[in-house]
Amino acid sequence: MEMKKESKQKGSRKSNPDLAESYLTFLGTQHLCQDGKMRQHAPTKLIDVFRQVHLESQIKKPKYDLSACISGTDPDFKGRVLWLSDLHWFHENIIKFVGHNKRPFENAEEMNSVILANILNTVSHEDIVIFVGDITFEKSEDGTYPLTNAMLREIRSRCAHMINVIGNHDVDKRNGVMKLGFDEVYSSLTLDFSGTPILVSHYPVDVATLDMIPGCINVHGHLHAHLWESPLLDSLYPADSNEFRHVSANLETLTNLSPMTLNELIARPGPKVSL
Ligand SMILES: [Fe+2]
Repeated sequence: MEMKKESKQKGSRKSNPDLAESYLTFLGTQHLCQDGKMRQHAPTKLIDVFRQVHLESQIKKPKYDLSACISGTDPDFKGRVLWLSDLHWFHENIIKFVGHNKRPFENAEEMNSVILANILNTVSHEDIVIFVGDITFEKSEDGTYPLTNAMLREIRSRCAHMINVIGNHDVDKRNGVMKLGFDEVYSSLTLDFSGTPILVSHYPVDVATLDMIPGCINVHGHLHAHLWESPLLDSLYPADSNEFRHVSANLETLTNLSPMTLNELIARPGPKVSL
């Protein structure tokens, strides 16, 4: 992969405000959907929640310099930064939607426990785990999501830090962002990976938005295996086919359905597509 080395933003964890704001604008734009129809990317109410999360994250002091952690330049950080998205715990129909070959489970219960076991078998106590949205479909009238929280607590007990970059299913219609016990929650993150700017966002972002920072690549979720392989993607996110701009963290694209480092995500075999 051609990684561009300009735009060094050493030690910066802060979201680039322009790119974060442009992501929110992008969410409200019209896009071609898998059925070939034009639809709004995200409803206004959802974008409002994303904006609120962005504003709140601006005033928090993060515990880790994530750019240094992913680049291996923080001498105090001995762990790995592991990525995954779109667990869709308790979402029985996701097995049907993406296909049994992508999620080889009989039911949601089996899916939940295998995904949890995969994560627990991968993480270690010094690792940071970054979820890129869409954690659970657990029904919870009081907004506590007890079974999901129990699984997340178990993961948290085996790692150093957990972050969620929220997706469309991390928002409770009544209560806003689901309280899922993450150490930090973001609507998007702008990081520097050894000189390559990275936008982390649940929704994949179009190249025009990414180009606000030259060479910026997008670590994203949201596109499940059946969408990832759709030829419609070429019309959604046209770009120079020689240029690699999107990295999916979607569970179904991960080796052994387990969290991976950024280097591992990038090194995966398969099409290096600009969505
Ligand atoms: Fe999603």
